[in-house]
Amino acid sequence: MNLESIQRRDLPAILSRMPKAELHIHIEGSLEPELIFEMAGRNGIRLDYASIEDLRAAYAFTDLQSFLDIYYAGAGVLQTEQDFFDMAWSYLNRAKADNVLHAEIFFDPQTHTARGIPFATVIAGLDRAVRRAGEELGVSASLILCFLRHLSEEDAFATLEEALPYRDLFIGVGLDSGERGNPPEKFARVFARCRELGLHIVAHAGEEGPADYIRDALDILKAERIDHGVRCLEDADLVARLARERVPLTVCPLSNVKLAVFREMHDHNLGRLLQAGLAATVNSDDPAYFGGYLNDNYAATFAALPELGAREAYQLARNSFEASFVAEEVKKGWVTALDEYFAGACGGKG
Ligand code: ADE
Ligand code: ZN
Repeated sequence: MNLESIQRRDLPAILSRMPKAELHIHIEGSLEPELIFEMAGRNGIRLDYASIEDLRAAYAFTDLQSFLDIYYAGAGVLQTEQDFFDMAWSYLNRAKADNVLHAEIFFDPQTHTARGIPFATVIAGLDRAVRRAGEELGVSASLILCFLRHLSEEDAFATLEEALPYRDLFIGVGLDSGERGNPPEKFARVFARCRELGLHIVAHAGEEGPADYIRDALDILKAERIDHGVRCLEDADLVARLARERVPLTVCPLSNVKLAVFREMHDHNLGRLLQAGLAATVNSDDPAYFGGYLNDNYAATFAALPELGAREAYQLARNSFEASFVAEEVKKGWVTALDEYFAGACGGKG
């Protein structure tokens, strides 16, 4: 496969059509303003915004917390099993359009149970959409339960208890919400319990928080993947370790620019992460809030960063499959499909 034979002008079409996986998507962050208004209407909820345009205009964030305030408020319209189904079904159809073969989807149960919505309602709606996507769209998907790190470890333990009757419906746990001042060690005991239960472990780290939080997510929580992790480049020893251990980073470029982690896409370090030998992947985080779904993230980074070409496109898609939590044979099948796709894009050369 001679990836160098691919012309730069052909990259946008190749990026959008190549098979890929998405490993960092908060399902509540896929709730579009149109759906927020529709659900508010049918559930009798009054919104603080007069119109869809008004709400969208409020999506001007200065940092992670300024986003989280609006994101948690938006999730307040989700009331019924059907609401959770509709949100996830809408995302999965969007993912299909971006040629996503597999998605590992975060959900934030505490955002809902704190409002009196039963855990059973949340997971039943999401699970119904996941199953239907497998059957009707040919998109495979699984769920990862995230603990909100601004809440206590005790609250996380109570959420885990509520989730355990549905243990078969999610594959792992993660850690999200405001990072600064909420270090991984705050959740050491609950993650230890999750590991005993055989759950996969991921954690947001090094988005706004320091590189030390990435190391602590690995050492204390035993995270198998780091969500974001872009601040690792501030610590050379950590970068060497991440490369040696092939720890996947689920990078979210449009999110990073919207939340001012980088000033503009031109400054993003995705190319440098790959050059350092890291298993970086591209993801959308909260696509309804950050201006685009998975293919928009690929398109924006490749347009802004000249060091990204066909080789990096192939590598990022390959990383996304290899970093997923599916059986090795399934990964191999997807990588074979990717190889065939790129062999075709190279015009059969190579
Ligand atoms: N919850 C939803 N999106 C998030 C992000 N980018 N960081 C932390 N928590 C989140
Ligand atoms: Zn995230």
